[in-house]
Amino acid sequence: LGELRGVIALDGPSGTGKSTVARRLAVSLGAGYLDTGAMYRAVTLAVLRAGVATDDEHEVLTVAEHVDLRVSTDAEHQEILLGGENVGSEIRGQAVTLAVSAVSAVAPVRALLVARQMRIIDEVCEQRGGIVVEGRDIGTVVAPDAGLKVYLTASSDARARRRSLQDSASGREASFDEVKQDVDRRDRLDSGRAASPLQPADDAVWLDTTHLDLQGVLDEITALVDERDLRG
Ligand code: DC
Repeated sequence: LGELRGVIALDGPSGTGKSTVARRLAVSLGAGYLDTGAMYRAVTLAVLRAGVATDDEHEVLTVAEHVDLRVSTDAEHQEILLGGENVGSEIRGQAVTLAVSAVSAVAPVRALLVARQMRIIDEVCEQRGGIVVEGRDIGTVVAPDAGLKVYLTASSDARARRRSLQDSASGREASFDEVKQDVDRRDRLDSGRAASPLQPADDAVWLDTTHLDLQGVLDEITALVDERDLRG
C-alpha cells in the first residue's frame, strides 16, 4: 500500500481522541501532520505573556501578527516553537486552555492562522504527498477540498474521561467534574462563536468514538481512505 495523497481533515470537539488518531494515522499513511489547535494555543500563550487582555481584539491581533511561531509537521516529532522556545507542554496547561477559546474567536486572528495553515498544507503536500490535519474548521474552511473529511464525536462524559486521563498522564491533576465543566464550556464557546464555529462539513463522515478504542477508530478511517483510493 502506498502513502497518502492529499489531505485528510479531522475535525471535532476536544476529548474525542482526535490528536492521537491524527498522529497515528499520519504515521501509518506516511503523511505529514498538522495540529491547528496547537497554533491557536501558541498564539494564546503569546497573548498571555504579553499581558494583553484576551478580549482586547485589537491588541490580540497585534500579538498574533508579530508572533514568531514554528510548527513541526512530523507526527513522530511534534514540536511547537514560540520565538525559538519549545512550548509544547506549556500550551496544554490550564492558563492557555482557559483563554484559547477567546483568542480563537477573533476573526482576523483566524484569517491569519488559516492562511498559514493553507501554506503549510500546500508545502507538505508538495514535499511528501499528503497530510493529516486536525482542528475545528479544517473540512469547512482550511481544506474544503480535502479528499476525506472525518468529524469525530463522542458523548461528553467519554470526552471528559479521556481528557482527565490525558491530564493525569502529563502530571496535571483536576477532578473529573472540573474537566467535564471545562470540556462543556469550551464546546459551547467554540460552537457558538460567529467566526467559523465548530461545525461539521456537509460532506464529512461522522464517526462516534464513544464506544470505539483507538484501533477501532483507526481501522474505520483507514477503510475510508482505501474506499476513496487516497493512497498513491
Ligand atoms: O484541539 P485543541 O483543544 O488543542 O484546540 C484548542 C482550541 O483552539 C479549541 O478550544 C478551539 C480552537 N481551535 C479552533 O478554533 N480552530 C481550530 N482549527 C483548532 C482549534
